[in-house]
Amino acid sequence: MSVMKKLGLLFLLFVPVLVHSQTVAPTPPMGWMSWNYFGENVNEKELKEMANSMVGNGMVKAGYNFIFIDDGWQGGRDKKNSMIADPVKFPSGIKALADFMHERGIKLGIYSDAAQLTCAGYTASLGFEEQDAKTFAEWGIDYLKYDYCHAPVDSSTAKIRYKAMADALKKSGREIIFGVCEWGDRQPWHWAAEAGGQLWRTTHDVRDKWKMRPTEKWGLGILDILDTNAELHEFSGPGKWNDADMLIAGLYGKKGPSGDGGGTGCTDTEYQTQFSLWAMMNSPLYATNDLRTMNEATKRILLNAEVIALNQDALGKQAVRKIKNDTWNVFLKPLANGDYALAILNRSDTGQSFRISFSELGLKDTYNLRDLWMHRTIGKRKKWNGTVEAHETKLFRLTVSGSGS
Ligand code: GLA
Repeated sequence: MSVMKKLGLLFLLFVPVLVHSQTVAPTPPMGWMSWNYFGENVNEKELKEMANSMVGNGMVKAGYNFIFIDDGWQGGRDKKNSMIADPVKFPSGIKALADFMHERGIKLGIYSDAAQLTCAGYTASLGFEEQDAKTFAEWGIDYLKYDYCHAPVDSSTAKIRYKAMADALKKSGREIIFGVCEWGDRQPWHWAAEAGGQLWRTTHDVRDKWKMRPTEKWGLGILDILDTNAELHEFSGPGKWNDADMLIAGLYGKKGPSGDGGGTGCTDTEYQTQFSLWAMMNSPLYATNDLRTMNEATKRILLNAEVIALNQDALGKQAVRKIKNDTWNVFLKPLANGDYALAILNRSDTGQSFRISFSELGLKDTYNLRDLWMHRTIGKRKKWNGTVEAHETKLFRLTVSGSGS
């Protein structure tokens, strides 16, 4: 073989590996985020307890390998203008906490804002992007959620401010995933990836509720966020994810930010629906409930490995909503091995029967059908019919099977 041919072969072999390894966040990030339950009362003692629970209950093994510290950790700046953590909440400092997490196979996320103050009024990063990025890198931070409170409303300023921090993170010498959090107000799906973000929130904050009531002026529930996020599938892919905000499974209307705005709690069926659809839409999966006291129903939801596998699938295609009416939503998601994931949501307040031929979705074959909540293989099918309870989502994996009914 000529030298040129050998070089060509090497190029073909290694370039895909290099390109792949360069994708930051090739699958949606997963973990536990402090905000929705603990709010500003975030501290190293409880974060360590949460991490230990995450290891002990199998979450880390299941893929939840991040703890994300949200707003409220900051203690201002030192004499050299470097960010410091609140010494009462974090007496050992963030670096020690990052070491603790890394020893347990957990990465650490942190939070700041593209203005002088964060949403909850703490020190933020505008004008200190490079210095803060360097501090985060020195501490061993692996993810930055970058909020947009107290910043001008126009899109061009947002793009400039997000790019400034993304560039600073790239220069910091550490791979730090960058989460854009301007709540979808400036359609970040059009510009956040180019600015340097790997994911972007598509809506305002989730509350612990099914949907906004007609009398309410604010407070988004599961269905409200679903209806925005589902339409954005074309913008999502490896390293550029639509972020539909935190999972509310296990909160049951307990106090905390997600209890505001009419967040009086959901049923386990509704939490199961959120988890199913967030997985189908490749949203990051951030639990936010108290992992130390989690009940069996919540564990069954958050630890469903077959559902997590849809979210973490290497193809990285967000599900498309193929059927959309007041009662039924049907989502289809192609998977890396040629399988499909199919979700059937009953939005109505009563259990109803549903029937679908897979050919209506453009699927011409016979499929081996597996129910991912029952963990049961149903058999070879060209269609499905059955009852879906109020607010329930049925989730199936379809594998081409060649022959059958
Ligand atoms: C905003 C974000 C939330 C949370 C709070 C913290 O509301 O959207 O997710 O980070 O700020 O103050």
